[in-house]
Amino acid sequence: MKIKPILPLLILSGALPASQDVARHTQEELHRLHQDTKAYIASLEDPQRDAYQKPHEVVTALDLKDGEVIADVGAGAGYFSLRFANHVGERGRVYAVDISPDMVRHLNRRIRDLKLRNVVTVLAEPDDPLLPDGSIDRFFLCNTWHHIDGQSRYLALMKRILKPGGQVVMIDFQKKELPVGPPVEMKIAREDLIRQMETNGFRLVKEHNFLPYQYFLIFAVQ
Ligand SMILES: C[S@@+](CC[C@H](N)C(=O)[O-])C[C@H]1O[C@@H](n2cnc3c(N)ncnc32)[C@H](O)[C@@H]1O
Repeated sequence: MKIKPILPLLILSGALPASQDVARHTQEELHRLHQDTKAYIASLEDPQRDAYQKPHEVVTALDLKDGEVIADVGAGAGYFSLRFANHVGERGRVYAVDISPDMVRHLNRRIRDLKLRNVVTVLAEPDDPLLPDGSIDRFFLCNTWHHIDGQSRYLALMKRILKPGGQVVMIDFQKKELPVGPPVEMKIAREDLIRQMETNGFRLVKEHNFLPYQYFLIFAVQ
């Protein structure tokens, strides 16, 4: 695997610069960032993030189909949702699910400005994506799983919401010191996530290894 040069580690002090998502965060810095929606959005949308997040490669690897229905849980500012919109076609749908009213408002503005007709925002509950049963081909979660409350119950809900043959895609930071992302104690190890998914009735069906700091796992219902 070829790893791109690591981006410079920003030293965070009082103010939170827009480009901070390329830096490592302490819990306190993250908490402050999450209180400041503008800065949070700027960090998620920071073009420097693309160097390690590789959005084009991720979307290509997903091989989205015309007419597919994908739910981006923890959609944030729409980093992936808005890209997915170009790949599922007019008959397809992207549900951009988030619990933050500020993020959902921001997304609604972007959807309107980009004149997208196949992206629908959902203001969800922390323990429920509020999607109809049997409605989704794929769940997609990037850097979001550790935010979810009551994960076993959430996985049971996801099973109900998935169409037959549906999948859950999880991208998250490797549980070790990295130049980007949350502190180690907030991360979920790849092996622990796989175990948790298996315990809750999912099995790993595919893994991509081109992201330098994150695992990229695809699960199906067992
Ligand atoms: C680190 S951001 C990731 C955003 C996006 N997935 C990306 O890769 O740019 C996490 C997002 O998850 C949202 N979130 C936190 N808890 C959530 C929950 N229980 N259900 C849905 N979204 C949640 C937050 O509001 C935030 O927008």
